[in-house]
Amino acid sequence: MKKGDLIIEAGVARDRAYAPYSKFKVGAAVFTKDGKVFHGANIENASYGLSMCAERNALYHAMMNGYKKDDFVGLAVIGDTKKPVSPCGACRQVISELFPRDGVILLANLKGDVVERSVDSLLPEAFDKQDL
Ligand code: THU
Repeated sequence: MKKGDLIIEAGVARDRAYAPYSKFKVGAAVFTKDGKVFHGANIENASYGLSMCAERNALYHAMMNGYKKDDFVGLAVIGDTKKPVSPCGACRQVISELFPRDGVILLANLKGDVVERSVDSLLPEAFDKQDL
């Protein structure tokens, strides 16, 4: 898995965003150990609260194709932001449950800025199933 490829794939996903309300298109791509890529983009709705983020769509897309947390090695997210795009709180919670602790998370923008993050740096002290 090349990090540059991960970001290119997130950009491909972004082109499929449906964001007529916010006009803010986000793309995400999940890479698996066996070399598959699953895309996600934000899909909005006239009932705004029903909108779904790119990151969650990408992870759910991968899972609906039979892949699970331990199969994932990379996740990239891209948006047209000044700094690399920052996942929302809901996505951080979902990433912390569905993406492995040692996986690579790349946050990017269209200008080519990229930062690498871990699950724990995105959501320290996450609420998880151990807490139930
Ligand atoms: N959005 C994402 O898809 N991912 C993020 O990390 C931040 C926000 C979407 C949700 C909504 O469709 C639009 O961006 C504006 O918030």
